[in-house]
Amino acid sequence: MKIFVDTANVKAIKEAMALGIVDGVTTNPTLVAKEGDNPEKIVKEICAVVEGRPVNAEVLSLKCDEMVKEARGIAKWAKNIVIKIPMMKEGLKTVKILADEGIKSNVTLIFSPTQAILAAKAGASYVSPFVGRLDDISTDGMELISQIMSIYNNYPTMETEVIVASIRHPLHVIQAGLMGADVLTIPPKVLEMMEKHPLTDAGIAAFLEDAKKFKK
Ligand code: E4P
Repeated sequence: MKIFVDTANVKAIKEAMALGIVDGVTTNPTLVAKEGDNPEKIVKEICAVVEGRPVNAEVLSLKCDEMVKEARGIAKWAKNIVIKIPMMKEGLKTVKILADEGIKSNVTLIFSPTQAILAAKAGASYVSPFVGRLDDISTDGMELISQIMSIYNNYPTMETEVIVASIRHPLHVIQAGLMGADVLTIPPKVLEMMEKHPLTDAGIAAFLEDAKKFKK
């Protein structure tokens, strides 16, 4: 299982790096905007912090020629950049051009298996199905992951990796792990929830209390 950190916050990424659990980072325009700084500066800093692991940065253009231009520019920021392209016809055309140039892409805002099939065929390195946003509209997000993985597994030439995105809680993580998803992109808040257990806290407190009874 690869874990990407789903944030543009450099401090949070450094903290996760110190835990030794980071295989990459995903950002999106909302996450970058939260940091209140220039996107190029933020993404370059993240690229340096994660030492060559993939860092996903998203294009804002919606026309193929503009997306390609923007993607080529972003790809020059660092060697480990993956370009996030929104799922749409113009995006698929862009993915094909970038793949031919050896630039990795991640087709984002995937909400159906058919979108994931098209993205893989176009040459995307990754697809990002958004599980939390589907759950928000009373549709089972993890079922989408299961369907995409089954379809990709039926065709070994489809090498596109599935990034479970829009993870909202630890149960999404467990379900994705049981399914054997390639990559989970996890927000810092959920990483923290994964580490906590009340019985661990109670156990540490009891051990420390008992240690006071050690013979001197
Ligand atoms: C990551 O690639 C996605 O942009 C992110 O997981 C979306 O999460 P959200 O649905 O919580 O905004």
